[in-house]
Amino acid sequence: MEKKITVLPGDGIGPEIVAQAVKVLDCVAEKFGHTFTYTYADIGGCSIDRHGVPITKEAMQTCKDADSVLLGAVGGPKWDSCAPEIRPEKALLAVRKELGLFANLRPTKLFPQLSDASPLKQEIVGQGIDLLIVRELTGGVYFGEHTTTEKNGELCAVDIMPYSESEIERIGRVAFETARKRGGKLASVDKANVLDTSRLWRKTMHRLAEEYQDVTYSDILVDNTAMQLIKNPTQFDVLVTENMFGDILSDEASMLTGSIGMMPSASLSSGTLGMYEPIHGSAPDIAEQDIANPLGTILSAAMMLRYSFDMPKEADAIEAAVNRVLDDGYRTGDIMQDGCQQVGCSKMGDLVAQRIA
Ligand code: IPM
Ligand code: MG
Repeated sequence: MEKKITVLPGDGIGPEIVAQAVKVLDCVAEKFGHTFTYTYADIGGCSIDRHGVPITKEAMQTCKDADSVLLGAVGGPKWDSCAPEIRPEKALLAVRKELGLFANLRPTKLFPQLSDASPLKQEIVGQGIDLLIVRELTGGVYFGEHTTTEKNGELCAVDIMPYSESEIERIGRVAFETARKRGGKLASVDKANVLDTSRLWRKTMHRLAEEYQDVTYSDILVDNTAMQLIKNPTQFDVLVTENMFGDILSDEASMLTGSIGMMPSASLSSGTLGMYEPIHGSAPDIAEQDIANPLGTILSAAMMLRYSFDMPKEADAIEAAVNRVLDDGYRTGDIMQDGCQQVGCSKMGDLVAQRIA
């Protein structure tokens, strides 16, 4: 098959981790007889520096024209003082919105080889962690109105968190369908004891639960979820939640996998176009030192093959190769353990690619 991939390396460690995922994709293409063509474009701080905006119209168009998008990371202290409208993160949110990427899947899986790398005790993570966070990605407070005004001699800021029933229903369906294909359990995370958006969320989820009787459904408050993820993470199969709760909970959950560097994500639309990126940020403090962990990005490429290209064998091949590299004792610094061999970002990419070839 021939597929067009738009590559947005972005800032900080973005370019180096994305290069490893492309290396691995090239290896998959060669082995399975596909042709992947890449169009590179700027996003985030590097785009602000070169073009004065965090994403140009042309770059956005290459995303829309592609079969899928691979993203590194955006942002960094250099652009922290930019006006809110041109901040690097603005571009990421714009791509999510313009491509209609409303469903963000964040699988949280602990590779057994890394159970020592998690800061949690063996008795908690030792039984194996395998949960999936389904985060709503184009609604809520991220996309509501943001204003700062002066009132009675002081500044006041307001961020509005809107949700419509149809926005909740479509993410709910993705979550129920996904739960059906996994462990058959879905927990819907909200703050229905305080927020109207959460009360609408819960009501809508309950309506869907009637339709998906084969899925074991429960409601859980977001603060309790934050606690339960640490106390008893194996109780969860699929968690579905709104945009900001999902952002926060997925960073928390990443530590169950040993390192945030291990976590991939897929942002899906109602069609096959998707964007794939690790959940971590641009980590400017370790950029350009060849020490970042590229596995979250490589595993995101596997999700691209699975969800956008319908290439499950190829996706399995990447995941199996990552497994083997870990079995063989290779680690980047963030997941380093006694008795293992520490390698850099590029070497880690080579090791995964070799095991596919
Ligand atoms: C993420 C990131 C983004 C988000 C930032 C960079 C805007 O934290 O993908 O989780 O908040 O969605
Ligand atoms: Mg985040």
